[in-house]
Amino acid sequence: MAYDTFHYNTAEELQARAAELGGSLPAVPDPKQAAEILSAPVPIHGTGLTAKNALAIHPMEGFDSAPDGGPGELTFRRYERFSSGGAGLFWFEATAVLPEARSNSRQLWIHEGNLDGYKRIAERMHENSGGAPVIMQLTHSGRFSRPHDVPEPLISYHNPVMNTKFNIDPSHPVLTDEYLERLPFWFEKAASLAKRAGFDGVDIKACHRYLISELLSAYTRENSRYGGSLENRTRLYFDAVRAASVFADERFIVATRLGVWDVLPYPWGFGGGRENYLEPDFTEAHRVLDGLESLGVRLVNVTMGSPYINPHVNRPYDIGAEPPEHPLCGVMRMIGGTGELKKAHPGMTFIGTGYTYLRELAPLVGAGAVRDGLTDLCGFGRTAFAYPDFARDALAGEMQRRKCCITCGKCTELMRMFTTTGCVVRDAGRYLPIYRDAVARRGNG
Ligand SMILES: Cc1cc2nc3c(=O)[nH]c(=O)nc-3n(C[C@H](O)[C@H](O)[C@H](O)COP(=O)(O)O)c2cc1C
Ligand code: SF4
Repeated sequence: MAYDTFHYNTAEELQARAAELGGSLPAVPDPKQAAEILSAPVPIHGTGLTAKNALAIHPMEGFDSAPDGGPGELTFRRYERFSSGGAGLFWFEATAVLPEARSNSRQLWIHEGNLDGYKRIAERMHENSGGAPVIMQLTHSGRFSRPHDVPEPLISYHNPVMNTKFNIDPSHPVLTDEYLERLPFWFEKAASLAKRAGFDGVDIKACHRYLISELLSAYTRENSRYGGSLENRTRLYFDAVRAASVFADERFIVATRLGVWDVLPYPWGFGGGRENYLEPDFTEAHRVLDGLESLGVRLVNVTMGSPYINPHVNRPYDIGAEPPEHPLCGVMRMIGGTGELKKAHPGMTFIGTGYTYLRELAPLVGAGAVRDGLTDLCGFGRTAFAYPDFARDALAGEMQRRKCCITCGKCTELMRMFTTTGCVVRDAGRYLPIYRDAVARRGNG
């Protein structure tokens, strides 16, 4: 495996390396031409919403809610910075629909008692961005629930890969059908609150192995309406979409972030080949997208892998523990996979993932992907933490490497230490002390 840290200076160099690795990357080599492509507004098919340009910010949790689950001081700071930075659409981070669904005690949780904070944040984001759409991600953390900062896993079936990794005993109870049947009500409730708060839509989160995503691979859940067939494995997902869609109209949409390929062996993961899980088999992903489209979903944010099991798939990196593949393989997997799905679903608008590793060359590759019909929008996660106004610079053809995310993983490390997170490197004044403090506490404890 050829592991190298990022040393590319042109799109052509990236493309040459991609070819050496046996793949290909689209690109528009001239930054000004790329900026022109990315600057065009992107209407979201079949809805009244339009992204102001083709650069989106992905959902990125900050673990910084107020005690009541509403946005805290650092939440406001993050979204002020994001929404003033020129992106065309914002995907607001994972927000729990129930207290037990939170991944930590400071994960956002929307309810009647804290709606004012969400109203203020949506208003500020619209003001700052000149009305760019803001979609709230609704989540149930399932296996990763940790509402009181100790694990309280709510699992939908026993998965040996995940059980081993997280020390879950085979006797641990599995969520009942009765519990799962009640959940769409809470997605509906959260969608109504998000609409009242002024968001432009909600995302029924189905990725990264949280509850709805885990159910997509519940092949072995027996004697249940939620396991076995694809119809059963998508039951909670589709019921939650239906429930939230009660509020859908011209100015409020139901979208989704879908993990189309977990890159885990069958029957423990979704979207991979049954014989070789390292190759995609999008047969079921296509059927899921067909089902979503028939329910009215028109905006899909595509992601892959799990940050807990295969972070190199989920967010390609080149600093820290050596990844098992060249980071460009992860980038190509996501860009190529999104393209394959988009081509088969022309009635849906797609947001792709996997661009941060490419640093300031990302807009060149992103513009190539848009030009070649591989995506409609390019989403950025870690880049937004490090360089919240990257979009303004990218749209001027002037993105700067010295401001980019270096893919060091320290923001994720903060999450793993169950601490407020942000960019430790480029926003060091705010987050380096938090990081040092968390490391010291870990060392002591
Ligand atoms: C600190 C951190 C928080 C994240 N929070 C979320 C989240 O709330 N919801 C989600 O779907 N993905 C979340 N992600 C994943 C990102 O949205 C994105 O998919 C991933 O970072 C890959 O994109 P990138 O290469 O542009 O960073 C998070 C990632 C990081 C590093
Ligand atoms: S902490 Fe590291 S990985 Fe996270 S945004 Fe900053 S530079 Fe990127």
